[in-house]
Amino acid sequence: MNLSTENTITINNIKTDIQTMPLKTHLIDGKAIATNLRATIKLDTAQLTFKPGLAVILVGDDPASSVYVSHKIKACEEVGFYSHLIRLSTQVTQNDLLIEIAALNHNVAIHGILVQMPLPRHINSQAVIAAINPNKDVDGFHIANAGALMTGSPRLVPCTPSGVMTLLEATQVQLHGAHAVVVGASNIVGKPQALLLQAAGATVTICNSKTRDLTAHLRMADIIVVAVGKPNFITGHQLKTGAVVIDVGINRQDNGRLCGDVDTASCMGIASAITPVPGGVGPMTIALLLSNTLKAATGSVK
Ligand code: GUN
Repeated sequence: MNLSTENTITINNIKTDIQTMPLKTHLIDGKAIATNLRATIKLDTAQLTFKPGLAVILVGDDPASSVYVSHKIKACEEVGFYSHLIRLSTQVTQNDLLIEIAALNHNVAIHGILVQMPLPRHINSQAVIAAINPNKDVDGFHIANAGALMTGSPRLVPCTPSGVMTLLEATQVQLHGAHAVVVGASNIVGKPQALLLQAAGATVTICNSKTRDLTAHLRMADIIVVAVGKPNFITGHQLKTGAVVIDVGINRQDNGRLCGDVDTASCMGIASAITPVPGGVGPMTIALLLSNTLKAATGSVK
């Protein structure tokens, strides 16, 4: 059997359209995989003589950010961490925010510091990230941690791409030699995702929402990770049959329902596996945040 990059398959020298062949698409259950990881973190935390501490800074009152932050705080409580939420007004000055971070850097009860993004426009997010002690940078955004990942000695790795790697591993997706296409090149997801896939032996193409003939790139992909923040941006007809699709997007539709960057329904019967939204990547981000906080607290970050 020979799988081509087009949607055809050659069996005994007969070329067949595989779109017509039944393929059962596996829904990757991020919720279950995250629950298992959180249970392990809870057990490991119970062995400690102290509580790992996470400080979360939320600037402003963006409703989506408020929801994400409350989930992070709740997750800390569930695994036995100490958590500290600092809410600051949208008008807070950059200097006052940096003073808060300096205090957390010196606070021995705090092992992890997370500043929820995005920040108001008058604040330089790179300056804020640079102010966090890299050993407490549980987002893995600090240039020291980004550089460590790029040079092949990862320390604290961004939670979402790290969670995607855990999902791929749990789904037993073969990465070595595979062709992965990452759509989106943000510092939070796309760039670190590409580095992690590359480190795992994949050949990686980084695209974005404006890439010319994106479909041609997607058709070559064994694994696709999409993080562009555009509802239903990618559809099943753009995929190679059997591709594994990881949808990082979480978009709120006009009807109030959530959807991803991938039109999941159109991928059924074409993708071999796909993450649903919600219940795919989202729960993994929080589980990996807990994992990074535990690492930072126990000094297992080298
Ligand atoms: N905003 C969206 N995703 C993230 C994340 O992973 N960390 C932080 N700090 N802010 C975010």
